[in-house]
Amino acid sequence: MKRKQPHIVANWKMQPGTIGAARELLRGVVKQSVAIRGVQITLCAPFVFISDLRRSYRGKAINFGAQDVSAHERGAHTGEVSVGMLQSVGARAAIVGHSERRASGESDALVAQKLLQTLRGGLVAILCIGEQERDERGEYLQVIRQQLQSALSSVSPLDLELGKLTIAYEPVWAIGKSGKDAMQPEAMHEMTIYIRKIVSERYGIEKASMVSILYGGSVEPSNSGDLLARAEIDGFLVGHASLEPQDFGLILKAAQHTKAQ
Ligand code: PGA
Repeated sequence: MKRKQPHIVANWKMQPGTIGAARELLRGVVKQSVAIRGVQITLCAPFVFISDLRRSYRGKAINFGAQDVSAHERGAHTGEVSVGMLQSVGARAAIVGHSERRASGESDALVAQKLLQTLRGGLVAILCIGEQERDERGEYLQVIRQQLQSALSSVSPLDLELGKLTIAYEPVWAIGKSGKDAMQPEAMHEMTIYIRKIVSERYGIEKASMVSILYGGSVEPSNSGDLLARAEIDGFLVGHASLEPQDFGLILKAAQHTKAQ
């Protein structure tokens, strides 16, 4: 399959603590990214920072995204943020169904609604899936199949054609650890094939090949090169290492290197 442009997504989670610190972090990331070519970069900042960061950024290389989005288009939904609102402040992407949101009660059905809203609203949707733990009998494979099939249940082949569906495989057991606890490239390669198979069962091989598959879970400079070279992935969803501009910069460099191969 033809290699897509690598896509590196930063998930800042509920960090940093102030707008001042967020601007400084952005400055650090911009510095690291100026020399990078051929890599798609998306920064998913907390909702309240997106507008400010987007306006203060003069370049073109970085896109901004949200870490969640409402399942509704408009109306009386206290505390929620719609796809349209995100569009209006210049966001281009939204993470949907992150395991930390699923852990606080988001069901597969809600994730499916959010995914549909995001794709129909024209944003890049970064759909997160991943099992809590691995069991010897391979039941985790069923968990992945169930999460994917449920999320895609209302997504039409047309929704896929825009190339805006991105699936981030993030095994919960590998999130927030150190680089050595990330998934091994061979195991991720198997998972990439499995995910693409499930998507192609529903939409056919050609459409499934338009979907980007990312890996997330303790991605750090120490493991990023190997994973990109050997796991057949299109990029990463990066948590803690995205808060360290130098580390994030090294991950971007690894992605640029993969592209050039
Ligand atoms: P991590 O987080 O890189 O800190 O493991 C990834 C994520 O939760 O998206």
